[in-house]
Amino acid sequence: MSGPRPDLVIRGGTIITAADRFRADLAVTGGKITQIAARIEDGAEEIDATGLLLLPGGIDAHVHLAQEQGDGTVMADDFDSGTRSAVAGGNTTVLPFALQRRGQSLRQAVADYHALAEGNCWCDVSFHMIITDPTPQVLGQELPALVREGYTSFKVFMTYDDMVLNDAELLEVFDVARREGALVMVHAEGHDAIKFMTRKLEESGRTAPYFHAEAHAHIAEREATHRAISHAELVDVPVVIVHVSGRDPMEQIQWAKRRGLNVFAETCPQYIALTKEDLKGLNMDFEGAKYVCSPPPRDRDSQEAIWQGLRDGTFDLFSSDHCPFYFDGEGGTGKDNPRARTSFKWVPNGIPGVETRLPILYSEGVSKGRISLERFVALTSSNPAKLYGMYPRKGALVIGADADITLWDPERRAVVRQEDMHHGADYTPYEGMEITGWPVRTILRGRTVYAASEGVTQEAQGQYLAREKSPQRL
Ligand code: URP
Ligand code: ZN
Ligand code: ZN
Ligand code: ZN
Repeated sequence: MSGPRPDLVIRGGTIITAADRFRADLAVTGGKITQIAARIEDGAEEIDATGLLLLPGGIDAHVHLAQEQGDGTVMADDFDSGTRSAVAGGNTTVLPFALQRRGQSLRQAVADYHALAEGNCWCDVSFHMIITDPTPQVLGQELPALVREGYTSFKVFMTYDDMVLNDAELLEVFDVARREGALVMVHAEGHDAIKFMTRKLEESGRTAPYFHAEAHAHIAEREATHRAISHAELVDVPVVIVHVSGRDPMEQIQWAKRRGLNVFAETCPQYIALTKEDLKGLNMDFEGAKYVCSPPPRDRDSQEAIWQGLRDGTFDLFSSDHCPFYFDGEGGTGKDNPRARTSFKWVPNGIPGVETRLPILYSEGVSKGRISLERFVALTSSNPAKLYGMYPRKGALVIGADADITLWDPERRAVVRQEDMHHGADYTPYEGMEITGWPVRTILRGRTVYAASEGVTQEAQGQYLAREKSPQRL
């Protein structure tokens, strides 16, 4: 074939999609994939991918960056460090949240996060909204208008004092989502059950970080998951149950899927790589705060259930829920935080993980034979692109798609070390974990933004993506 010389040819690699795998060369022109063939003529730039896998760039559809906490704690990543960390972990798109504070207009919240992100992103970015204050103005005007402008998904919380929606509010928000064709992500943990457990634990002096895992009981997660599904069924709106931690809520999701309800589910690295034992730290000490997230990691049995769910389609998405805090310092999660010392309930919830999401799932999943390569791509790139309205521009290695490509070395061995991380946090909860399979180059719209040999390269060129309405099916 002849024609204008491509900008870039990636040669000799194995292309992996959500459906199949094959050896081919791949050409890029103008930031788009223009040719996939057994043999492509020379490009202006050439990359030898012999022995490597070509994956559609990772899409992490659940990350928190630069979120204002309102309690004096400081999030450890802004858009600059958070997206650097993302590309070093093989991602080309992240979906952080634009958090509406109570009393704030939703449109103002969205504008604030755009201002924080503008010019500072190393990968492409789009926003989910977080609705904490569903006033008539928000439900009647702002939310419908924003969905039409490309903010086609939003998250609601069934717990956290400053974010929780009651059932009446959930139903109203679901109803707007149904009318507008938006997708709702639900944080499903029962607020009253958690508050009850917290008080009981505190009254008996059990205040160490570990007891966060007991307060956030799996029963509270199961109950809220069922309640969210029931409300969604009543309103007839699709929902994504995010960060599902184990067997009990999974059974609710399986029940819903068997009934043909439009319920999707996401799980995260912490639920396959950590357990609640990690929250004990060294001896029920503050080291445990490094693992505090909600829902908390559970037990071995739950990890096994999660693997089964990743294989059998219970889970559609595998995201990091990257929500990084510092461990040290007054604004951190650990012993220097005066309030966190008095009770686990003041330990900020969340752990870093955008950079280790793909290596952990690859190593524990693909390298150990628990999931296929195709399933890996579906869970980490193609499905999030489809469900959140970016497919096939993102999440696919097809002609016409953005040339977002991760070159993956399936043999590369590494040990997770904080000193190698690009995130802003001062620790990684996965310290010392042995990994087989690591991203060696991340290509965003045809340009290398990360190479293992050189680090994060070039200038921040991430773009904002307005998204289509979710097709609401996979
Ligand atoms: O503990 C967590 N997951 N913090 C992040 C906020 C959320 O609920 O996703
Ligand atoms: Zn959540
Ligand atoms: Zn359980
Ligand atoms: Zn989250």
